[in-house]
Amino acid sequence: MNLATVELLRYLRELGWSDVELPPPSPFVSASPVASPAPLPPPAAGGSAGEMLAALAAQLADCRRCRLCEGRTQVVFGVGNPQARLMFIGEGPGQEEDRLGEPFVGRAGRLLDAMLQALGLPRREVYIANVVKCRPPGNRDPQDDEVAACRPFLERQVELVNPQVIVTLGRVAARHLLGRSEAMRELRGRWTSWRGRRVLPTYHPAFLLRTPSAKAEAWRDLKEVRRSLSLARGEAGPA
Ligand code: URA
Repeated sequence: MNLATVELLRYLRELGWSDVELPPPSPFVSASPVASPAPLPPPAAGGSAGEMLAALAAQLADCRRCRLCEGRTQVVFGVGNPQARLMFIGEGPGQEEDRLGEPFVGRAGRLLDAMLQALGLPRREVYIANVVKCRPPGNRDPQDDEVAACRPFLERQVELVNPQVIVTLGRVAARHLLGRSEAMRELRGRWTSWRGRRVLPTYHPAFLLRTPSAKAEAWRDLKEVRRSLSLARGEAGPA
């Protein structure tokens, strides 16, 4: 079965067609999280989160740990408040992100921004990163070894930002961060945890652009995130 057909079947599954059968996973793609390669050395003590994130970004700037370096224009590290209480994790840079060096700046990013704005959480107050920092050719799914090569950097980003809540955007981020392979329809809106942090999976904004009828559920998920952050602050949760 060719890649386009597999992608179409996955898309139908995301839409909730649970009787669509996906081909068995290839031996190179497992549903469980991939073991991390050698961990990064601990960050130099004494810097602020922002300084340590900048140092980490500098370390990655000429990364050649996987084949994605061959087609990228630049590494797309992450953006936002280094001390954000809320972190979003997407899949990987697309064409616009690769060109501009910032995650979620294309059409999907503009939808994410609009939802954040409507929620009263401007983009500059959250932190946004991806499971892989270089654009997969043709926006294909990142492969397991590519995610594994990038994973120590994502883990360090999470440690440094130290968010109270993580929102994973879409199937690829949920699968690679949480090791979950269920359809997004089943995963979304259900709290889970990763290394002691609260995580809420929701739909990827690119999926919402293709499937506007799913926006209401994504909106509910983001309101739930805002409620959780408000409660953690001891504020009365907004409706
Ligand atoms: N999709 C993603 O998952 N990440 C981006 O940065 C852009 C689009």
